[in-house]
Amino acid sequence: MSAPMLSVQQVSVDFATEDGTVHVLDGVSLAVGRGEIVGLVGESGCGKSTLARTILGVLPPHISTVSGGRVVFDGENLLDMPHRRLARDVRGRRITLIPQDPYQAFNPLFTVGTQIMDLMRTKSPAPGGLSGRARKRFDRDRVIQVLEAVNIPSPAEALKKLPHEFSGGQLQRLMIAMAFLPNPELIIADEPTTALDVTIQAQILRLLRNMADREGVAVIFTTHDLATAYQLCDRVVVMYAGQEMEDADTDSFFASPRHPYTYGLLGSIPGKNAEVREIPGEMANLADPPSGCRFRTRCARAEVRCAEARPPVTECAAGHVVRCFNTANEQVAT
Ligand SMILES: Nc1ncnc2c1ncn2[C@@H]1O[C@H](COP(=O)(O)OP(=O)(O)O)[C@@H](O)[C@H]1O
Ligand SMILES: [Mg+2]
Repeated sequence: MSAPMLSVQQVSVDFATEDGTVHVLDGVSLAVGRGEIVGLVGESGCGKSTLARTILGVLPPHISTVSGGRVVFDGENLLDMPHRRLARDVRGRRITLIPQDPYQAFNPLFTVGTQIMDLMRTKSPAPGGLSGRARKRFDRDRVIQVLEAVNIPSPAEALKKLPHEFSGGQLQRLMIAMAFLPNPELIIADEPTTALDVTIQAQILRLLRNMADREGVAVIFTTHDLATAYQLCDRVVVMYAGQEMEDADTDSFFASPRHPYTYGLLGSIPGKNAEVREIPGEMANLADPPSGCRFRTRCARAEVRCAEARPPVTECAAGHVVRCFNTANEQVAT
């Protein structure tokens, strides 16, 4: 098998807070292949955005520390890459972001066109060596073409408008366009539909899928909503309290989940009853997390060894891995 395009290897991140050090990510690993859409699923506070920020190199300075691990993108560890090169070549260019809240992401005082052309000034995928005029034409054509692809009516007119003149769904389409404009290899979509109406959410998901397929771009899609992951993703990674618990292709994940946390999330009708359910017990305290498996304090099947060490990765079917001592031979009723 060829090496994945992105591989997050045993990444740990701590935050210094008033209450002491918070161990937000604890040895998280996942991989993304070219053109693959990977859902990163977990309850609010489990560390999805922190992982997204770690990959993009935009963790808050001073208070955060990457205390271990590697983020290998196209063969290079981004955590070691010189800042200037990361900023120029990778962030916003080869890896882009669709943020959660499109209302927050645009500056209300400048037209959408100004903000988009500003992006193109530094992150355009234009081939090198174009004259100033040819470059302008290239950028303009690319912008119009991508705005059309995300179903913004009359793109040339739309560019002249201020953000408040668009609906939330349209603003998120514009954000999606901006994520695709640099022709990236990977897009990180951090709960991009959470701020939107339910009816708009489905349209935006379809759009994202079509665009990713059309442009051959891989996506890491974070969500707390399993139904969304089911609809959109090729593969699902479940995270709990800063540890990944299960990682499987979408069919296998919903047909035969293996981790006790995953059953808890799915309830009794995998794939259908897909809102994340309440699971008894409290979310692990990240300032003083449980040793070993962080889910063990809420797990009906916890044993002594779950506290002694974090369970290793077990491959229970081809491409389906789980970090649990207890589920290797489990047959789960569906
Ligand atoms: N800037 C920060 N300072 C201190 N703690 C933070 C900061 N950002 C996130 N955290 C903590 O990290 C944990 C994970 O947060 P986050 O990555 O935003 O989770 P998610 O995106 O899954 O909701 C939370 O417990 C949160 O309190
Ligand atoms: Mg988040």
